[in-house]
Amino acid sequence: MDSQELNQRGNWGSKIAFIFAASGSAIGLGNIWRFPMMVGLKGGAIFVLTYILSVIFIGFTVMLAELTIGRHAKKNPVGAFNFIKPGSPWKLVGYMGVITGVFILSYYAVVAGWAAGYLYKTTIGTFRRLSTFSGEEAWEVSDIIFKNFSANPLEVLICLFIVIALTTFVISKGVKGGIERWSKILMPALFFLIIILAVRALTLPGAETGLSFYLKPKLSEFNADVIFFAVGQAFFSLSLGMGTMMTYGSYISKKDNLVSSAGWVCFSDVLVALLAGIIIFPTLFTTPGISPDKFQAETGLMFQVLPIVISKMPGGNIFGILFFILLLIAALTSTISLLEVPTAYLIDERNWKRSKAAFVIGLSSFLLAIPSALSHEAVKIFTKLKIMANMDLIFGNIMLAIGALFISIFLSYSWKTKNALKEIESGNKHFSLKPFWLINIKFLAPIVIFIILIFIIIKTITG
Ligand code: TRP
Repeated sequence: MDSQELNQRGNWGSKIAFIFAASGSAIGLGNIWRFPMMVGLKGGAIFVLTYILSVIFIGFTVMLAELTIGRHAKKNPVGAFNFIKPGSPWKLVGYMGVITGVFILSYYAVVAGWAAGYLYKTTIGTFRRLSTFSGEEAWEVSDIIFKNFSANPLEVLICLFIVIALTTFVISKGVKGGIERWSKILMPALFFLIIILAVRALTLPGAETGLSFYLKPKLSEFNADVIFFAVGQAFFSLSLGMGTMMTYGSYISKKDNLVSSAGWVCFSDVLVALLAGIIIFPTLFTTPGISPDKFQAETGLMFQVLPIVISKMPGGNIFGILFFILLLIAALTSTISLLEVPTAYLIDERNWKRSKAAFVIGLSSFLLAIPSALSHEAVKIFTKLKIMANMDLIFGNIMLAIGALFISIFLSYSWKTKNALKEIESGNKHFSLKPFWLINIKFLAPIVIFIILIFIIIKTITG
């Protein structure tokens, strides 16, 4: 590898810088918006438990696989498969990732836009009056505010545009100047605020009902659906299955320890998701009239609940402003990582300039995002087709699972684990989790993912 090529692609400043940037990619709306929604839809605590097991056994395994492939090839996903197995059809998996990234970005950016809208609303004091209402009324008002906002085409499109424009701007600045600088300061700040909110939610009178829905598993709720969505949530939340971590791995130095890096990213990601649930569920179920057994989560869950906790904090408004700023930034460090994959592809494989690649992909994502943005009662047909929910099912669950399946098969049976181990061991002489990882990457991950995919196909066909 000549040094000029390396310089043009950029590299992380240090191992810590990588961990921050990769956690920045992983931690985002997936943890704070999507995770509680999934918990609310798929059986509460049993989902939480299945999700944690999925991260340990499958998420961590696939993350290490992606980082290893990425660092070895020093390329975007398409280039990486092509580098390791030149001329083989494996590069199609890379293309699949590039496309999946653009589609995930298209609805993810809409939700990030909602966060931007909520930042504005908090700033002008829209939620201040919530503190004067009783539980049930506060919920109703908050629900109406969300529904009016998400159904307003002009507002959601402006917010969406802001998010995509900011993402494109940071991406056009490249790895070090852009992604790294942002993540290092802001992720710890977000973490701090989340802990404060969690403490507030836990001390609300009646918080136990929510906590027990969230943390006491009911075996009767367990079924194949739970496994499918828990594994899907693990991939989504850890940014796996489409080559994001491969691309981020391609900027890691040979000397760094991939195993502990992957471990740290998984750990911090799960921690933030679990804390987000601790904010949402106790608050939700202290609202009279909303009970765990009848409850069905909607896409707006986080936006309906958060203003309520915030209004119950001393200095709530300022706190709310800070929280939404950080949430928006957490979302941006994730949108950046989604956009970085197609951008790196155009730079490496098509020799485009970084700024041009970022602009073209940014514009395409904006156009693709319009149907999702308008699918919350703004435009009838998009609402009826449930565009956002279905995009999330297809790209956020199914495509990521297919991607992860191919990645684990590729590493184990095409590239071969002995070559992957050489790459891993170049930065970690004593890879003590080796047997655990080998069993998981060769057998457990591909088998479990294959079975859940068959299950979802049968379920879709039989309705
Ligand atoms: N993991 C991010 C989150 O939880 C979203 C994300 C960023 C992502 N890059 C990804 C999801 C790649 C899937 C694949 O918010």
